[in-house]
Amino acid sequence: MRVLVTGAKGQVGAEIVRQGRNLGLDMMATGRAALDITRQDAVNRFIQAQQPDIVINAAAYTAVDRAESEPEPAYAVNRDGAACLARACAANNIPLLHLSTDYIFDGRQQGAYSETDPPNPQGIYGKSKLAGDRAIESILEQHLILRVSWVFGVDGNNFVKTMLRLGKERDVLKVVADQHGGPTWAGAIAETLLGLVKRRGDGEAISWGTYHYSGQPVTTWQAFAKAIFEQADKLGMIDRQPRVEPITTAEYPTPAQRPLNSVFDCHKITQVLGISQPDWRTGLDKVLKKWRKS
Ligand SMILES: NC(=O)c1ccc[n+]([C@@H]2O[C@H](COP(=O)([O-])OP(=O)(O)OC[C@H]3O[C@@H](n4cnc5c(N)ncnc54)[C@H](OP(=O)(O)O)[C@@H]3O)[C@@H](O)[C@H]2O)c1
Repeated sequence: MRVLVTGAKGQVGAEIVRQGRNLGLDMMATGRAALDITRQDAVNRFIQAQQPDIVINAAAYTAVDRAESEPEPAYAVNRDGAACLARACAANNIPLLHLSTDYIFDGRQQGAYSETDPPNPQGIYGKSKLAGDRAIESILEQHLILRVSWVFGVDGNNFVKTMLRLGKERDVLKVVADQHGGPTWAGAIAETLLGLVKRRGDGEAISWGTYHYSGQPVTTWQAFAKAIFEQADKLGMIDRQPRVEPITTAEYPTPAQRPLNSVFDCHKITQVLGISQPDWRTGLDKVLKKWRKS
């Protein structure tokens, strides 16, 4: 299978490319310089010339807070870029696997969010991502949108890396404890998407549509931070664990409002595609061990 990956230098994109190559797939890894997804003519030319069997879009504008003051680039990448890829895929009869986010929900619902719950994004990032999802749905039938949450991995910037850095600098960290969600290892996202690529290559018909996929068990940022330090300590990566104190979202104001409830109901992906929720603690262990090695 010939797989085009956009945003291949991001935390999920890099993981997809690495794992895909290990699986022996023909991976075409493109960063923004090689393929800017906002340029329709460039996207058309690339896909027409390269004829991938499937496209995975890991490119996105992910600066959640910055998006509040610069909506144009967020919409350009997350809405218009997604639409550009969908148009080129439709013209060439190629399926598109795309990633979306828990930030399309307002987080006010009691209980986990399923795929049929109405979105109501609170910030520009969430609004632009939802607009991208809607564009793909309207342009291309053969699409799979995987909504993921609280992503962390070996590459790029993420919460795990930030905590380890701050933990070195301070004895006490105050971390938000009233937002609930499922941290999701980029490696597990890559495994899931590449598993679908393989199944497609084996001739299986994939049930297109939107799926929720996140790590379990449900946690808070504060509990996640504690788990990061405990595991890093166990692996001998830090000299001491900082104290991690709980604060509320109100005590930690940010330009973009985050959902208090980011919990996904992941029954659909299990029932329809036979994919179960990964345990984020396994992913955390793998990421930390990889960093320790390097
Ligand atoms: N991170 C999270 O916690 C999280 C949570 C839920 C959902 N998601 C979704 O998961 C997906 C992957 O996120 P991630 O964490 O891997 O993001 P990331 O690390 O920020 O990577 C995104 C990549 O997209 C590239 N990109 C930006 N604009 C582009 C363009 N016009 N053309 C081509 N590439 C472009 C970026 O390159 P530059 O560095 O050059 O800008 C970057 O390498 C996204 O769809 C995101 O919305 C992420």
